[in-house]
Amino acid sequence: MVAREGSPLLLGLADDGSYAASDASALLQVTRRIVYLENGDCAELSRDSYRITRVDGSPVERVETESHLSADAVELGQYRHYMQKEIFEQPVALSNTLEMLGAARSIQPGLFGADTESILKDVRQVLIIACGTSYHAGLVARYWLEAIAGISCNVEVASEYRYRESVPDPQTLVVTLSQSGETADTLAALHHAKSLGMKHTLCICNVPESSLVRENALRFITRAGPEIGVASTKAFTTQLAALYLLTLIFAKLRGRLTEQAEATELQALRHLPVAVAKVLELEPLIREWSEHFAMKQDALFLGRGRHYPIALEGALKLKEISYIHAEAYPAGELKHGPLALVDKNMPVIAVAPNDALLEKLKSNLQEVRARGGELYVFADADGEMVAADGLHVMHLPEHYGQLSALLHVVPLQLLAYHVALVRGTDVDKPRNLAKSVTVE
Ligand code: G6P
Repeated sequence: MVAREGSPLLLGLADDGSYAASDASALLQVTRRIVYLENGDCAELSRDSYRITRVDGSPVERVETESHLSADAVELGQYRHYMQKEIFEQPVALSNTLEMLGAARSIQPGLFGADTESILKDVRQVLIIACGTSYHAGLVARYWLEAIAGISCNVEVASEYRYRESVPDPQTLVVTLSQSGETADTLAALHHAKSLGMKHTLCICNVPESSLVRENALRFITRAGPEIGVASTKAFTTQLAALYLLTLIFAKLRGRLTEQAEATELQALRHLPVAVAKVLELEPLIREWSEHFAMKQDALFLGRGRHYPIALEGALKLKEISYIHAEAYPAGELKHGPLALVDKNMPVIAVAPNDALLEKLKSNLQEVRARGGELYVFADADGEMVAADGLHVMHLPEHYGQLSALLHVVPLQLLAYHVALVRGTDVDKPRNLAKSVTVE
């Protein structure tokens, strides 16, 4: 007998018996025939049958579905760890996620659901709610939505939003972001937003059968494939691709995207898988850098503008899997506190794309060098930064404009992965953490 309340639960129907699991991937070796249970369902399983009832004992039918997950998607193959596999799957994950664009020269709002156009025309602001890495994707999107689409956007950590007294506006588009679609805080925050009268909801999620997907008026399913490593990687970059599409749709509906600009943006999106694949070729250099971090206790990540959330994500990756204490700051805030920590023992990692803020960032980095800090800079191909004593520079193969956040996160994922390898931690299952946090 099994029962579902909160966390996901599904039945697997195989020739040799009936199974229960929280995820279809766990059952792939025995069956692809799946029945998803709803909250409040109880199921009685026997070798060759099953019966589902509600808590009060009334019988209920749930549809049997066929899982289309490929066995390769959940096997390690040539890789040592799932995290490594998932980092390297990013070009494919992006290309699958963007596949629905086809060869069109324009973006169809319907990508997010049939009512997208009417809903987006009715909203005057966006509220993004998420946790962990998904929250960082939301922070990047705020820069895009405000700069490109001209729509005001707030981003909230779900566990804060659900308990804070906020000022609801029914003309808000509430966007929940989640790899799993089962994160308890994100689900509760969505319920809270709805209870405050906000009915326009959209989720971007990687698991089509998840609870979150069922609860939103609009939805976009990223097609990253199953993400198994606890530290999220390909879910993040595919979420960003989806959020960029959302930004372009908003921009179009608000008359801020010319036909030509739209075609150029689409070209940039379609080229992303190739661009990310080129960044992955930096791995040998990153492996060399990782040796420098192995004995460190702390690390500081700096970025500015839409690359500040990338610095946050880099710090999160490093702390999650290598257990090095890592913090991220917007570089302009350096002088308001973290500079006091900088000495030769504190590596400082800077995300330094060649954008309008580069000169400002360089002067922030000068402050680090003046205090004897060791700098590790991820610059763009055309960024004129040259390595020197105490200044390590790695150039990314391309300068990618608005979308460069998607490229700049990749070396930080690889850096965290290789530092963790050197330190011998359990990369895929870091201590004290869970892949899907289905309890508060
Ligand atoms: C956990 C995972 C993180 C993830 C976060 C949010 O903390 O370890 O990798 O970013 O949950 O998960 P979600 O599935 O909602 O994106």
